[in-house]
Amino acid sequence: MKIAFATTECVPYAKTGGLADVAGSLPKALEKLGVEVKVFMPKYLFIDEAKHELRYNWDIGEMLIRVNGKVFSVHLHQAKLPNSNVEVNFIDCPHFFNRGKIYTNDHDEDERFILFSKGVIEALQRLSWAPDVIQCNDWQTGLIPLYIKDNYGWDRMFDHTATLFTIHNFAYQGRFSKSTLYAAEIRPELFYPGGPVEFEESVSFMKTGIVFADLINTVSNKYSHEILTPEYGAGLAGILRARKSDVYGILNGVDYDEWNPETDKFLPYKYSMKDLSGKLKNKKFLMEHFNLPFDENRPLIGMISRLVVQKGFDIFSEAVNELTSLNAQWIILGSGEYKYEEMFRHLAYHLKGKLAAYIGYNNELSHLIEAGSDIFLMPSRYEPCGLNQIYSLKYGTIPVVRKTGGLADTVKDWDEENYYGFDHGNGFSFYDYSGFALYKSVERAVNTFANKDIWKKIQLNGMKQDFSWKRSAEKYIELYKLAKEKRE
Ligand code: ADP
Ligand code: GLC
Repeated sequence: MKIAFATTECVPYAKTGGLADVAGSLPKALEKLGVEVKVFMPKYLFIDEAKHELRYNWDIGEMLIRVNGKVFSVHLHQAKLPNSNVEVNFIDCPHFFNRGKIYTNDHDEDERFILFSKGVIEALQRLSWAPDVIQCNDWQTGLIPLYIKDNYGWDRMFDHTATLFTIHNFAYQGRFSKSTLYAAEIRPELFYPGGPVEFEESVSFMKTGIVFADLINTVSNKYSHEILTPEYGAGLAGILRARKSDVYGILNGVDYDEWNPETDKFLPYKYSMKDLSGKLKNKKFLMEHFNLPFDENRPLIGMISRLVVQKGFDIFSEAVNELTSLNAQWIILGSGEYKYEEMFRHLAYHLKGKLAAYIGYNNELSHLIEAGSDIFLMPSRYEPCGLNQIYSLKYGTIPVVRKTGGLADTVKDWDEENYYGFDHGNGFSFYDYSGFALYKSVERAVNTFANKDIWKKIQLNGMKQDFSWKRSAEKYIELYKLAKEKRE
C-alpha cells in the first residue's frame, strides 16, 4: 500500500502544534506495518537543510507551476524522517515559503497553499509514484481532493488514487474571496450558493476538502460526533452531516520515542512507574529554574499551550483570582494572542514565587514541564484530540481537562469512575464551559494531591496506559482500504 501524506507541519522540521507531532510519527508507525509512505510539506526558509540532511532532487529539476496566472519555479528536496525510511519531500518555492512563519496573514495566503497542493500532485507525477491514498490534513490541503478528480483528472496515473481528508481543527477553514477561484483554477461552475466550493459567498478550502474527498476523518471519536452539531460545527456542520456516513474518528497516538520519562533526552532525571523519585527531582530542578520556592506538599500546575480561545483561556481568566488563590504553584509555557500573553506576564510579575510564565515556544522546556509538574491543566473549549494530556498521562502528571473531544476520550475522571465502582480514573474533568466549573475541578485535584496514596494510584492508572501509534495506524490502514474501495 502506498500513502502520500500532505501536511504543512512536521516534526522535526516545522511545528506550530499537534499536526506536526502527528505528521512526524504516524507515517513512521505506518511504515512499521508495511505501508510505503511519502510525506509532502513546504520547504520553509527556517528549515535547517544541513542539520536535517536535505538533498536536492536533480532528476526532477525544475517544475513550473501556475498560481493566479503567474508561473513559479518549484523544486523538490528530500530527506528521511529520523529513525525511519520514510521519505519527506519538500516543495520548494521561495516566493511563497521564505516568510519566516508557517502561516501568515499575508494577502496571498490562499496562493501559498494552492501552490503547495499543486506541488504535491506535480511532484507525484514527476516521481511516477501513484499513491493508493493521498491523506490531506486540514484546510491548507483541502483543494487536493478536487484537483485529483478535476484539474488533474486527465492524468490516468491517478485513476485509482483516493483521497482522505483529515480534520485536525474544524475552526480554521481557509476562506477566501471569490477571486481565489481564478488563482486556484477552480472551474467557475463549481461556485454558486450552496455549491461544492462555496460557503457564505467565499471560497472555502475546508468545504472543498469535505465535498471532494473519498473519506473524511477527525482525530478523536468524540470530536467526529461533536462537529456534526451546530455548537462545534463552525458553520459547516450541515455540510459534514450530508456526508455523515463517510466521517470517521481515529484517536491520535503519541510517539513514545520522543515522549517517555524513561528515555526523554531533555530530562535531567529519568523515571518510570517503578520508581517515581526522578519526577520529584525534575520538579525541584524546574522550580529552581523559574525561581519558585519548592514545597513538597504544594502541587505544581503546568500548562503548555497556544494561548488562544480554543484552549479555554477565556474561562481561565474568568476564574483567575480563585485559581491562583489555591494552595498550588503554576508554570505556564505558551504564546499566542497578545491579551493572554499579557495576562500571564502580569500574573508572573504580581505573583512572584507562586506563578511563572515563559511566553514563547520552547520544546525542551515543554518536556521538562511535562515531567516536573504534578497537575496539567487543559480547559479547552473544544479539542479535536489534544496531545499534551496524553503526554501528561505517561509522565505521571495528572490532567485536569474539560470533557470535550479527545480530552473526553482519553481522560477519565477519578471521582466519577470511583462513583461508578471503577478504579481506573486517570485525571479530573469538568463539563460546563465556565470559570466556576474549571475552578472546582482544579480545586478537587489540588485537594486530592494531599492524599499521597490516592495520588499515586491515579498517576499509575495513567502511566500504564498505552496510546502509542500502532493501534491508530492499524485503523488508518482500514480507512485507506475503505477510501480506495470508494474510489474504484
Ligand atoms: P494544538 O495542536 O491544538 O496546539 P495539541 O495538544 O495537539 O494542540 O498539540 C500541541 C503541541 O504543541 C504539543 O506537542 C505541545 O507540547 C506543543 N506546544 C504548544 N505550545 C508550545 C510552546 N509554547 N512551546 C513548546 N511546545 C509547545
Ligand atoms: C489540532 C488540534 C489538536 C490535535 C492536533 C493534532 O491542532 O487542535 O487537538 O491534537 O491538531 O491532530
